[in-house]
Amino acid sequence: MGDRIRRLVAGALGVLAVFTALTAPAPAEAAASTLGAAAAQSGRYFGAAIAAGKLGVSAYTTIAGREFNMVTAENEMKIDATEPNRGQFNFTNADRIYNWAVQNGKRVRGHTLAWHSQQPGWMQSLSGSTLRQAMINHINGVMAHYKGKIYAWDVVNEAFADGNSGGRRDSNLQRTGNDWIEAAFRTARTADPAAKLCYNDYNIENWTWAKTQGVYNMVRDFKQRGVPIDCVGFQSHFNSGSPYNSNFRTTLQSFAALGVDVAITELDIQGASATTYANVTKDCLAVPRCVGITVWGVRDSDSWRPGDTPLLFDGNGNKKPAYTSVLNALNAGSPS
Ligand code: G3I
Repeated sequence: MGDRIRRLVAGALGVLAVFTALTAPAPAEAAASTLGAAAAQSGRYFGAAIAAGKLGVSAYTTIAGREFNMVTAENEMKIDATEPNRGQFNFTNADRIYNWAVQNGKRVRGHTLAWHSQQPGWMQSLSGSTLRQAMINHINGVMAHYKGKIYAWDVVNEAFADGNSGGRRDSNLQRTGNDWIEAAFRTARTADPAAKLCYNDYNIENWTWAKTQGVYNMVRDFKQRGVPIDCVGFQSHFNSGSPYNSNFRTTLQSFAALGVDVAITELDIQGASATTYANVTKDCLAVPRCVGITVWGVRDSDSWRPGDTPLLFDGNGNKKPAYTSVLNALNAGSPS
């Protein structure tokens, strides 16, 4: 082969190489191997409820430290835990969880500031304007302690009634006046402008349910009137009494269209069907404003409903089929 031909062939091969490099599909992203990393690929988080009493259990912290990148205190930031005596705040266990989370590179969802349940005795016995002021003082006290440190607060938890009314749940807080929820949100915005402010509830996942519509109407009203609200948390405790329904995606889309983030905040599924877990994950991935998923515990033995075996790890810390289905759904990205 003459020099000229050799140069022509070499040039052609060079051009071909460049062309091939430009047109070949990019190598597939390596699949992430933990829930948190897999969710992070789409800018989302994957969290878990953490109990302070288990932070000394290495089988527990090994899984929690590895898999999750968002933490919710299961009980330790609630009213009875943080203000056991009126005006005296106690953050011992809440800080244990907060510090563990931050030291392990995780963000924290705050749960919860105003709720009819898990009130300390002193608060249960209050009513009227005294209770309203105590609620406001509580929000200010807790949010000041964590100012600038909490990704999102469940400002108000479970304020709507179950059943077909679509109305508010009766409670001592509700009896202070229907505006107690917006009072809580306005207080929270001033107390920590950096935190996202969420309304959180259960049995609001099924779009056809009256409770879902009641909360939807409240959020729409708040957005219209400029009451500060940034997000809605769908607890997603699915079981035979409140089963998963595929219209959950419609619910998430409809709330997001009001201009709030949506999140799955306390997920557990009776029996832990791998298919249902994957469907819930895909529902979140399908909604750009669905910012993340939190499961309500680590192993089945950590669940508030251990008999339902509703979580992603069994009591021995082994990954269940539902774990794999969630991980695969997260790695597959947005469903079309
Ligand atoms: O800490 C005491 C312990 O000292 C005592 O020996 C023991 C005996 O019953 O009780 C322990 O407290 C329990 C606490 O969990 C810690 O385990 C309470 O009785 C028990 O009522 C409490 O249950 C929690 C429940 O909220 C209370 O409403 C669950 O752990 C917690 O998972 C659950 O979480 C709620 C969310 O906050 C809101 N959405 C529903 C979700 C599930 O119910």
